[in-house]
Amino acid sequence: MPDLPALLNNTPKLEELLQIARVKRVSLEQNPSTTAFRLVNSGADEIADLSVDFFAGVLVASLYAELSEKQENVLLEVLAQTFAPVSIYLKRRPKEARHVANVARDSLAPDAPAWGERVDEIEILENGVKYLIRPGGDLSVGLFLDMRESRAWLKHHVAGKTMLNTFAYTCGFGLISSLNGATRAVNLDLSRRVLDWGQDNYRLNKLEPKRFDFISGDVFDWLTRFSRRGDKFDVVVLDPPSFATSKHIRFSAATNYDELVELAASIVTPEGLLLACCNNAQVSKRNFYAQIKTGLKRAGRGFNLLQSLGQSKIDFPTLNNLESPLKVFALEV
Ligand SMILES: C[S@@+](CC[C@H](N)C(=O)[O-])C[C@H]1O[C@@H](n2cnc3c(N)ncnc32)[C@H](O)[C@@H]1O
Repeated sequence: MPDLPALLNNTPKLEELLQIARVKRVSLEQNPSTTAFRLVNSGADEIADLSVDFFAGVLVASLYAELSEKQENVLLEVLAQTFAPVSIYLKRRPKEARHVANVARDSLAPDAPAWGERVDEIEILENGVKYLIRPGGDLSVGLFLDMRESRAWLKHHVAGKTMLNTFAYTCGFGLISSLNGATRAVNLDLSRRVLDWGQDNYRLNKLEPKRFDFISGDVFDWLTRFSRRGDKFDVVVLDPPSFATSKHIRFSAATNYDELVELAASIVTPEGLLLACCNNAQVSKRNFYAQIKTGLKRAGRGFNLLQSLGQSKIDFPTLNNLESPLKVFALEV
């Protein structure tokens, strides 16, 4: 497979590959209740080091290779010609950038579009639910599109139940639960800013945030606190980042997921549900499942695997059908 700079020297080929990627997603493009999806999933669409997300006309293009300004401009022109978007925002994610301090954020995820008109905020739909997307300013723009199948699964498993949404970000899982009959939804995240954004998502869907809980705090502390208080939930969603630090724990999904599961298991009601998610390509599905089993065993909880979920094959195909980076297990505990 040619690398991205090589494809930028052969723009007819790049245009052809982008068109093929688009055709594969035509069912999503024509679905009026879902206006956000991935248009290009790098190597799986034969375009190495490029992913493009579509948010109701606005494109967010992530670059995993370093490009010159000239190469970026060629890419923008080709994307603009092929998809006729309102605007294109760039996220520069070369491997080295993972270690760069916040100072560099401006150049990695500029506020302003790289092409087209400025759109600070845009409303999108996913299966009829509205979310606010903020395309500039941060590497993450408000919704992880690869979680669409997991949100859809949760929708059918929360009616009449209490739920806890850990590592809530903009509260996607909490919102789905609150819209589909959960009697209590607690959204928990370290960042007040993303919880406020989550509250905006609730309002957008005509739910009064005051009726639900948005707790800004450390998940590891709060799981311990809930457990001590005897506070239990019928459904617990675990969706940690690959690495997290807190006062007491340096969490890595590769090695500490079992501890997180053990902690969470103590606050799941009998026959309650655990939705355990891991989006780290370095952690195999097998390792992830083994860690879940270990955590539940240590907590003295048996379980039934209800479903193994992941990313949609339509817009998140994987290269050569390899294991997808996102792994999600729905378990009855
Ligand atoms: C991968 S995102 C979660 C995505 C989210 N579940 C969704 O579906 O949109 C990770 C989130 O975890 C939060 N986070 C990281 N460490 C945390 C901690 N120790 N306690 C609480 N939240 C944490 C970050 O602020 C971030 O919003």
